[in-house]
Order: sequence, then C-alpha cells, then structure tokens
Amino acid sequence: MTVVTCIEDLRVLAQRRVPRMFYDYADSGSWSESTYRANGADLEAIKFRQRVAVDMDGRTLRTTMLGEPVAMPVALAPVGLTGMQRGDGEILAARAAEKFGVPFTLSTMSICSIEDVAASVTKPFWFQLYVMRDRDFVGRLIDRAKAARCSALVLTLDLQILGQRHKDLKNGLSTPPKLTLANIANMATKPRWCWAMLQTRRREFGNIVGHVAGIDDMSSLSEWTARQFDPKLSWDDVAWIKDRWGGKLVLKGIMDAEDAHRAVASGADALIVSNHGGRQLDGTPSTAAALPAIVDAVGDRMTVLADGGVRSGLDVARMLALGAKGVLIGRAWAYALSASGEAGVAHVLRLIEEEMRVAMALTGCTRVRDISREMLVRSS
Ligand SMILES: Cc1cc2nc3c(=O)[nH]c(=O)nc-3n(C[C@H](O)[C@H](O)[C@H](O)COP(=O)(O)O)c2cc1C
Repeated sequence: MTVVTCIEDLRVLAQRRVPRMFYDYADSGSWSESTYRANGADLEAIKFRQRVAVDMDGRTLRTTMLGEPVAMPVALAPVGLTGMQRGDGEILAARAAEKFGVPFTLSTMSICSIEDVAASVTKPFWFQLYVMRDRDFVGRLIDRAKAARCSALVLTLDLQILGQRHKDLKNGLSTPPKLTLANIANMATKPRWCWAMLQTRRREFGNIVGHVAGIDDMSSLSEWTARQFDPKLSWDDVAWIKDRWGGKLVLKGIMDAEDAHRAVASGADALIVSNHGGRQLDGTPSTAAALPAIVDAVGDRMTVLADGGVRSGLDVARMLALGAKGVLIGRAWAYALSASGEAGVAHVLRLIEEEMRVAMALTGCTRVRDISREMLVRSS
C-alpha cells in the first residue's frame, strides 16, 4: 500500500491508474512546455524568512474568498474532462471540496453537467465559462449556472484559440476515447478506471451535448474547439456577460498589468493571474513572476487570485505572500482524483492545509491576513 505524503505521489499514482491519453492531457503544457515548467520552478525558487519564537498557538487558515467563508484560501480550478480522469469525477471533486470547505469550479468542458453537480452538493459552487460563437448557447449556459445557484462565474479569457499540446495530438485525445486496438490495450491495464467508467452513464461533455443544435461530433476536442470557440471575444463581451449573469464575476487569464486595469474598469469582482497552467502561450512568464506587478497595479480596487504550478501548501503560502488573496489548484486535484477519486481530492486538500499550517508557524504568521511579502527573502 502506497503512503501518499505529497502531490508528487498522487501524480505518480495518476499516471499508473489512468489511460495514457487522459494522464498526458493533464500533465502537459503547450509546445516546449517552458511556461509550464517555469510556473513550478519560479514558485519553488521563492524563499521564506524563517522566524522563531513567535507564539504560533491558535493559528487559523480560515478566511474568505469572494466573500464566502472558506477553510483555507484555496479553490479547485476549472479543469476540463475530469469525468474522464475518473467516472463522475466532477461530482466526486465537488463533494470533496464542499466537505472540506473550499470552492469548487466546474469547467464548461466538464463531463458531468452543471445540473448533475448541483444535484450532488448542497452548497453553491463556481462555474467557469468559455465563450462560444453561438451566443444563444453562451447565454443559456449562464442562465443554467444561475438556476443551479452557482455563486461565481469565472470567465476564462485566454483560450479562444488552443495552444498546441503535442501529446494530445499524438494520442488522438478524444471523449469518449475511440476504441482503437492501442486504446483498448492501454485501458485494459487500468482496471480501476474502467470499473468507475462502467458505473456511470456520463461519458460526454454534459454541458454541451444535447444542449446545442447541430453539435454532433465533439470527439476531437482540438477540432471542436477551433470551430466553436469565438475568436472575436473582447472586453465588450465581458460587459454583456456581466449583465446577463448579474452575480460575482471573475476574469481568468490575466497576465499583464494593462489588462488588469481593463479588468478593474470592467467592474468584475476579481481576476485570476493565470497562464492556463502553461497550456496556452508558451513563453509567457510564470504566474509567480507576473503576480506582484498585477497586485501593485490593481491595489485594493479588485480581488486578485492566482494559479499555476501550485504543488504544495508552501506554494499556496508563496502565492499569498506575493499578494494573491486566494489560490487555485489545477493539476494537483486532477491527479488526486485520478489516483483515488473523492478520497484523493480530500487527501490533497489535507496535505495542502497541513503544509500551510507549518509554513505559517515557521514564518511567524497566525492568520492568513498576516501573510505578506515580508514573509519572503528579498531576491535582490
Ligand atoms: C487538464 C487541464 C484542463 C484544464 N481545463 C480548463 C478549463 O476547462 N477551463 C479553464 O478555465 N481552465 C482550465 N485549465 C487551467 C486551470 O484552470 C488552471 O489555470 C491551471 O491548471 C493552473 O495550473 P496548475 O495545473 O499548475 O495548478 C485546465 C488545466 C488543466 C491542467
């Protein structure tokens, strides 16, 4: 029995337990993967100031994110196709997040639908929106998220066109997977995955299939994205989406201070400093490198959240110290789900929590709001 002590253990288990095309889909960046690598490497290079003899009793990670009370300032980022990492994956992850007390974000490109997830949890979750050419459909998606009582809409701005991930093309990534000899042979070596998939009827994009006329073959994700995602998406669209939604709006994919100013001007409630986990523009700086300038540009006019490369509670503390008010994890929970379903996602949250507690204790912080750049060793 493997003792899972860190997120890397979960990644290794995920690789062992999930068909190659879905593991590779998660563990890839675009093109040379330089931004994907930089996200992790730059975070890891940030050093803490160790402080001693500070009364660390009564430490708490409890705080709020977008006005909602949370057990710690961490949310599950939107990750597409998680119902292919594990049968009913989105439902399992949403349940784990709810029990732990952190927000879950459902991707537009999920397998379980908004309604499936809403029926499986008792508290509101966040919904992530991709903007398609068919604006009627986008409007209806927003209405469905409203009807499901989602508490925030996360509008992703950095994927109107797809950054190429070599492995997805080589593996012929599709949902559901095509029953080629190579795929069947690979799936036969993943009995847990097959078992969970056989227990569910959810194997297609639940938010899309059956909700849009004329959308039949979505099996090739890259081709479908190229045809349906709207390259005309602009700041004007942010305005109507905000209007139609009427609730808390979060803009995801901001990497530049000028765009951060526009995000503030749009009237959205928060932005997420994100390069899509190094999956879009290969060659952007890491999010850890981009974050401080955006925090400075925005000041207290808007909530700044961040994601990218977070693989431990220490990494969460580093992002907070750089100025983020909350942190999203992507691959960390996707690996955990692939490795062990709902229990895996619960485990990854506990690992992060425990490590954050130690990080806070040994840097002399007892509350999340005490975390600041003062906690870090200055680089120059
Ligand atoms: C497999 C995978 C699928 C993703 N799907 C989506 C998505 O559907 N919508 C979205 O806004 N971001 C998506 N992202 C980006 C994540 O929300 C997040 O920005 C990124 O994973 C953070 O980096 P990390 O994985 O290093 O934590 C995806 C990321 C991964 C790894």
